[in-house]
Amino acid sequence: MIEITTLSELTIDGKLALHRTSSSKELFDYSSDELKAWFHGLRAQCDAIMVGANTVRVDDPLLTVRHVEGRSPLRVIPSSDGLLPLTSALLNDGLATLVAVGRTASPQTIAALAAKPGVEVVRCGEAEVDLAALMDILAERGVRSLIVEGGSTLLSSLFGRGLVSKIIIKHIPIISGDPEAPTYLTLTPRAGLDLRVSRWRMDDWFVKGGIGVSIYGRAAAT
Ligand SMILES: NC(=O)c1ccc[n+]([C@@H]2O[C@H](COP(=O)([O-])OP(=O)(O)OC[C@H]3O[C@@H](n4cnc5c(N)ncnc54)[C@H](OP(=O)(O)O)[C@@H]3O)[C@@H](O)[C@H]2O)c1
Repeated sequence: MIEITTLSELTIDGKLALHRTSSSKELFDYSSDELKAWFHGLRAQCDAIMVGANTVRVDDPLLTVRHVEGRSPLRVIPSSDGLLPLTSALLNDGLATLVAVGRTASPQTIAALAAKPGVEVVRCGEAEVDLAALMDILAERGVRSLIVEGGSTLLSSLFGRGLVSKIIIKHIPIISGDPEAPTYLTLTPRAGLDLRVSRWRMDDWFVKGGIGVSIYGRAAAT
């Protein structure tokens, strides 16, 4: 069983980025060096780190450990059709990356991704990537802890399938004000999603460098 922790930066109005097409790196830059080091320390402690395909397209993240000493985790990207920009930073630094694709990914797309250094492609799912099956694949490879850094669509899929065990939210003291900016969760009805109320227990909260951090665990079923 993989422990899945979501790690997100949220504005006061619950947005994951300031605008629809802007990078969430703008929010990360609000953090003090101490808080950046704490965040990257969490990355260094986990076996794998995951973001959705759109986050790769919009943010072009590295998902490596940089603000502290430590080993970078395996990067995992679910992308139904596999159409990630081949110039993406994480496809070109040679570090281990697993791209999970669905049935619609073409052999040419898979070959182009697999030709990148350090990149492996697994087919896993139909119209979209089957996240539960992907967790089984990761578990077989020895992954015990996974950090998911977004975005909204991937987080919603994971919460809707009850796969998340811990939530960490960094509260950025700014209001986006843009109704088009991505909201933390967009839990619209989709096949297989459980949209019932789920209860969480606040385990910790603190303020570092003017930024609040809250940590939740799953509340025991009543
Ligand atoms: N503040 C933060 O902490 C933070 C962190 C990360 C991202 N962000 C922001 O979030 C935004 C991107 O979020 P997003 O909702 O557009 O996209 P996303 O969650 O990053 O990626 C969603 C995409 O992943 C692929 N996917 C494949 N199987 C899936 C499944 N079972 N469930 C969910 N997704 C699956 C699909 O792409 P394809 O089918 O097209 O391949 C889907 O459209 C950006 O603005 C980014 O800056 C913020």
